[in-house]
Amino acid sequence: MPRKLAAGNWKMNGQRANLVELQKLEDKHGDAGVDILICPPATLISGCEDTPFDIGGQDCHVNQSGAHTGDVSADMLADAGASYVLTGHSERRTDHGETDAIVAAKSQAAYDAGLIAVICIGETLAEREGGTTLSVIDTQLAGSIPAAATAENTVIAYEPVWAIGTGKVPTLDQIGEVHAHIRKQLADRFDDADEMRILYGGSVKGSNAADIFGVPHVDGALVGGASLKADDFSPIISALEQA
Ligand code: 13P
Repeated sequence: MPRKLAAGNWKMNGQRANLVELQKLEDKHGDAGVDILICPPATLISGCEDTPFDIGGQDCHVNQSGAHTGDVSADMLADAGASYVLTGHSERRTDHGETDAIVAAKSQAAYDAGLIAVICIGETLAEREGGTTLSVIDTQLAGSIPAAATAENTVIAYEPVWAIGTGKVPTLDQIGEVHAHIRKQLADRFDDADEMRILYGGSVKGSNAADIFGVPHVDGALVGGASLKADDFSPIISALEQA
């Protein structure tokens, strides 16, 4: 069984004062039985050096350095104290036109810097309603995951775009169908696919976490809004510990 992972994506939220939330989380889950990852804005990564939790970036450039104003490289994230980076989040795909090929290049850049890539995929509402969810997932998996992926350097996050920040969550059967499908697709390409962690993301809260974590092939969650406050993230971590 893969080691479970509770990941928080703070997105473009948080200033230094908000790091107190990590201290509160440490008080409750300092020696949690699951892995805990926090992805704060890049400006806060170096300020997280005292936390026991893993820290991740939310994006990286495909190159390790150079004339790319405003961008951050995987090497820089590692230097600042990160051990993970999100790649291909749907907000990056939408806001910045990131294609599967770009996501694969960013994930490879993460490996080259010694970071674990959390590669995000997921269908839109139109794709879900059009019945193309699994073929969209197939295309994203095939195009976004580098050949060098292993269970050590890669986590997959399934985040239906229509469930992100909306309060809408797929049924447990829908989550189970996609996660089982992802596992099978990974197994076709990677020898250690059974150990690769597959997270669910999209409106995960304390009230629905236990049910979601009971679905086969759900190895944890990638949490947005409910990761910002320790009081909201804590019950999700507890549910994962008990799953
Ligand atoms: P919410 O948990 O706010 O729906 O966000 C999910 C997400 O996009 C995490 O990366």
